Amino acid sequence: CGIVAFIGSREASPLLLDGLRKLEYRGYDSAGLATVTIGEKDQDDFVTCKRAKGKLVNLSELIEKEGAPGHLGIGHTRWATHGKPEEHNAHPHRDNSGEVAVVQNGIIENHTSLRKKLEGKGVQFLSQTDTEVIPHLISHELDHFLANGSSPSRSLLLQAVQKVLGLLEGAYAIAVIWSKTPDALVVAKRQASLVIGLGEGEFLCASDKPALTGFTRTILPMEDDEIALLTPLGIELYDIQGKRKDRSPVVLSGLDQEIDKQHFRHFMLKEIHEQPETVELWLSKHLPIHAPIDSPIVLPYDASFYESIEQIQILACGTSRHAGMVGAYLLEQFAGIRTSVFFASEFRYAPPPLSPHTLTIGVTQSGETADTLAALSMEHQRRSVLDNNDFASFQLGITNSSESSLALQVPNILDIGAGIEVGVAATKTFLGQLLAFYGLAISFAARRKSRSQEEINALCEELRSIPKQLKDLVKEHNQLAESLAHRFADTEDVIFLGRGINYPIALEGALKLKEISYIHAEGYPAGEMKHGPIALLDQRVPVISIATEGIVFEKVLSNAQEAKARDASLIGICPQTVETQIFDSLLPIPKVSEWISPLLTVIPMQLLSYYIAAQRGLDVDQPRNLAKSVTVE
Ligand code: G6P
Repeated sequence: CGIVAFIGSREASPLLLDGLRKLEYRGYDSAGLATVTIGEKDQDDFVTCKRAKGKLVNLSELIEKEGAPGHLGIGHTRWATHGKPEEHNAHPHRDNSGEVAVVQNGIIENHTSLRKKLEGKGVQFLSQTDTEVIPHLISHELDHFLANGSSPSRSLLLQAVQKVLGLLEGAYAIAVIWSKTPDALVVAKRQASLVIGLGEGEFLCASDKPALTGFTRTILPMEDDEIALLTPLGIELYDIQGKRKDRSPVVLSGLDQEIDKQHFRHFMLKEIHEQPETVELWLSKHLPIHAPIDSPIVLPYDASFYESIEQIQILACGTSRHAGMVGAYLLEQFAGIRTSVFFASEFRYAPPPLSPHTLTIGVTQSGETADTLAALSMEHQRRSVLDNNDFASFQLGITNSSESSLALQVPNILDIGAGIEVGVAATKTFLGQLLAFYGLAISFAARRKSRSQEEINALCEELRSIPKQLKDLVKEHNQLAESLAHRFADTEDVIFLGRGINYPIALEGALKLKEISYIHAEGYPAGEMKHGPIALLDQRVPVISIATEGIVFEKVLSNAQEAKARDASLIGICPQTVETQIFDSLLPIPKVSEWISPLLTVIPMQLLSYYIAAQRGLDVDQPRNLAKSVTVE
């Protein structure tokens, strides 16, 4: 989910809507905003709340029609956790008097018990969300203060929120408004990101920095367990005990990047086409022509880093985990270091036994995925008990956002520098993550001498030739994939096969297809197909095999033959050779070494998924039920 909040002298709703538009990648099931509207003549000030199911455009149309006046407001775009994506579950949520409104990001873990208590006191809940307990609790605190003779004031609102935060378990970023304080906005956070953007006599807060593009470059990122009272006059920052804190804002660079589809129909297609450039940029930074031959990759680590590490564990989710799997293959098979890959969400609750000299790598393009951040934080704590080992709790983060929560949490960041990726299905950031792993594997192999100089040079040379090959490949496959996609009009299941370093690419191909076309797809190591999935095959189930020349080439081809014998239609992602004539359709890739092949084999996967989804008329950039960054566990 994404949240925004504004206080100043301008109309809040256009600024809130603009911020929400930039945050829509964090969820788009429903959206809403609330403002404090100044009452006319004898009328009290009141909260105007507008919410709409579906994409943000529905909310914009509603506001255009009905208005939401006020200079103070909060907004939210939702990725449903508790309760269906219906209007009544959309944020903001209010107390029963309608005077207090709250937006929240995160999950309140003890909401069921809090809800029961509130219901016992006569509170009526209007949604199934965990968030709704918050406005009711705040309202109770305020009523209590008012009943004891206090008058409505900013500090009363602050105190009430402070008290309620003490009752909440879980992760949150919240913004609160009260109709009785039209000049006060209260925001707070714990384990969910929240930044305050500073304008002139006005503030725009958001769960994510992109929402502040065009508003300000001066920001104050909030830390865990902080609470802030914002008024047009300034920021009052407090810790959880209510002690005043003082911290200077920072000025950001690179917040002005405008996002534009250019002539492409979807962002995803544009981002697929940007991949040659992603590699060029990475090469110029990390594999410069004049780099020393014995350490060709430029990374900010010294010899002791490469020498002391005995094993590596990679934590990630979704596409990033697939990049981690290719990375693990390279680190183990090319550089000779034992490496394991974990689902971040599983790792947190079932980590392997502690062993020393272990490097933990978190991979997340957004740098905001809660599962990955929580797993890294747990691991950092767990490892801090290991003494006498510089790298006991050493963590590395691979991300496309050097200013993300990951970057705040993990000091050593490999920024893949792929530029903003708008399409929810990751493409160029996946390639960027792969490159980060190529860099690490080559560095480890070079420093530890686990590969000969010739082998290292050969891989570096192949990397240097990738941008040109990618350019040709994207162009050629754009057409091939588009015409092949027509055959998938009625397809319901697809099997993707790959082996070795291309097994994760088969998984990624299946995930891409599932994510954007809603076709059921599974990726398997090709040799495993005969042990179960083969039962699914008939002429209606296409099998897409990645077969690159190398140690498992013939094996993959015979696995493909097994599928063909069951009438499956075979699509090959492989070089054009005599052997690959067994495929009914070919998405040819150039002859390259197996090591480098994932950087090429992934392209036809991406383009085929894209065209299948686009031809079905689906919303490729914002597929149903997904979000670009999932900030809840
Ligand atoms: C979400 C997206 C996936 C993505 C995953 C990990 O679930 O829908 O496409 O791969 O998050 O995202 P991250 O930002 O951590 O790479």
